[in-house]
Amino acid sequence: MKKISLVVILLLAGILVLSACAGPAGTQGPAGPTGPPGPAGAAADVSKLFNEADTKLGLWAAQPGTAPRMLELSTHFNIMWFAAQAGNWDVVTFEAYRVDETVKANVIVRPGRKAALEAWSKPTVATIQQAAKDKNLASFEKAYDTAVAGCNACHTVMGGGPLANMKAYKITRPTAPMFSNIDFKP
Ligand code: HEC
Repeated sequence: MKKISLVVILLLAGILVLSACAGPAGTQGPAGPTGPPGPAGAAADVSKLFNEADTKLGLWAAQPGTAPRMLELSTHFNIMWFAAQAGNWDVVTFEAYRVDETVKANVIVRPGRKAALEAWSKPTVATIQQAAKDKNLASFEKAYDTAVAGCNACHTVMGGGPLANMKAYKITRPTAPMFSNIDFKP
């Protein structure tokens, strides 16, 4: 017998044996997992993940919380003070704008602090920017001192990390610029 025909016979025999072994059809298995959401559902899920802070997710947990934003506020309040003393109102306007941006970023990741932070930041930014617009040092200093009183008022009631309140952090008018490489002259 030729080699090819032997292979064919063996194959046919194999198929016969296999079909003889196949048992009766079984009962249907349980339903499979539900499919992924449709495009609209997926977009809503993605939007929620990106827009609502969930600190169980690594990307959200790695975002700066309140404390690093507070250091930013300290910086803006330092720079704006010396800018105002030098009559550099553009710098004051910009630093007040940065206070607003800092708080905006803070409340996205810490929505629980939103009401208190905005109650402080909105009038603070508005009065400082008005003083800058009027180029009026006396109104600037008044707005500044009111803002700083607000920093301290909040620190007496709001806690963070291991502290039940932040009153150990007493904010004052600054006595020295944080940066020696900014020329405040307008
Ligand atoms: C509405 C409440 C609130 C206001 C207003 C506020 N703070 Fe704070 N501050 C906090 C809280 C809460 C913490 C602790 C944050 C944390 O644990 O993440 C804090 C912490 C700090 C810290 C310590 C940060 C660190 O990492 O060492 C500094 C400095 C600070 N604040 C400065 C300021 C300054 C300056 C102002 C005003 C210009 C201000 N804060 C206004 C609530 C406030």
